[in-house]
Amino acid sequence: MNIDLNHKRILVTGASRGIGKAVALQLANSGAIVAAQYQKDRSAAEDLRAQYPHNIHLFQADFSQSTSVVTLYDQTVDALGGLDVLVNNAGLALHAPMNTEDLQWLDQWTLTLQVNLTAAALLCKKAILDFSEQNRGIIINISSRAAFRGDTSDYLAYAASKGGLMSLTKSIARAYGKKGIVAFDIAPGFVKTDMAQSFIDQYGEDLVLNDIALNDLTTPHDIAPIITLLASGLANHATGTTIDVNAGSYIH
Ligand SMILES: NC(=O)c1ccc[n+]([C@@H]2O[C@H](COP(=O)([O-])OP(=O)(O)OC[C@H]3O[C@@H](n4cnc5c(N)ncnc54)[C@H](OP(=O)(O)O)[C@@H]3O)[C@@H](O)[C@H]2O)c1
Repeated sequence: MNIDLNHKRILVTGASRGIGKAVALQLANSGAIVAAQYQKDRSAAEDLRAQYPHNIHLFQADFSQSTSVVTLYDQTVDALGGLDVLVNNAGLALHAPMNTEDLQWLDQWTLTLQVNLTAAALLCKKAILDFSEQNRGIIINISSRAAFRGDTSDYLAYAASKGGLMSLTKSIARAYGKKGIVAFDIAPGFVKTDMAQSFIDQYGEDLVLNDIALNDLTTPHDIAPIITLLASGLANHATGTTIDVNAGSYIH
């Protein structure tokens, strides 16, 4: 099976590093025109674009600001002449133990929910309006194993944000299928990226390796092919589903 994404216009958030970078590269390699959003890491984003200068367009946005999210969407649609697929991948995992001072803990909770859930929901809302008009569109949201299994006490907000994103995806699939819109949830376990590294630094790599059924840790390249398949439209009848990519660490 060859997957050809020629003429597909795809927004990938959090494309400067980790999972988003591997996804943007594979989508561009399959012919898609990719709007790659980054927040701070301009030079990583430039490196990404250099690999597919004709297919990758860069956009800066800070999802802690909702106006920045709206601007990102509008700029993307203007530059690409529309949108076919939205991949909500950008996210953060803040370490917030219970002994953190109350208001600081709440600030971290609020920022986590804003970036991981509210910004993604706003992009979904705007895409749904456009997708409804064109009677087709694909939404792929990257949640987490934590949405189902929960997380450690230091990452309560992270798991809550991902649970919200997962249920948002299911609602979209149920509510907008008749408008030609499909929605998928990807739930990774540990993936070798900067985000996972900060967890490994705190808890040790053995904890992670002992937790999975396979011998090696998942990498972003284990996730990108699944998103490429979903973006192609070949799996539309699986709308509403969650695809676990957790190396057998949580099977449900
Ligand atoms: N790695 C894992 O083990 C794992 C497991 C389950 C789920 N996930 C999920 O997979 C997704 C990607 O994770 P990753 O490990 O690839 O993360 P990562 O390497 O830490 O990269 C995070 C990406 O999100 C962007 N970002 C961070 N804060 C942002 C903000 N305030 N506004 C806009 N963009 C922001 C970053 O942009 P800059 O680089 O420009 O700052 C970067 O491109 C996340 O949603 C994460 O929750 C990851």
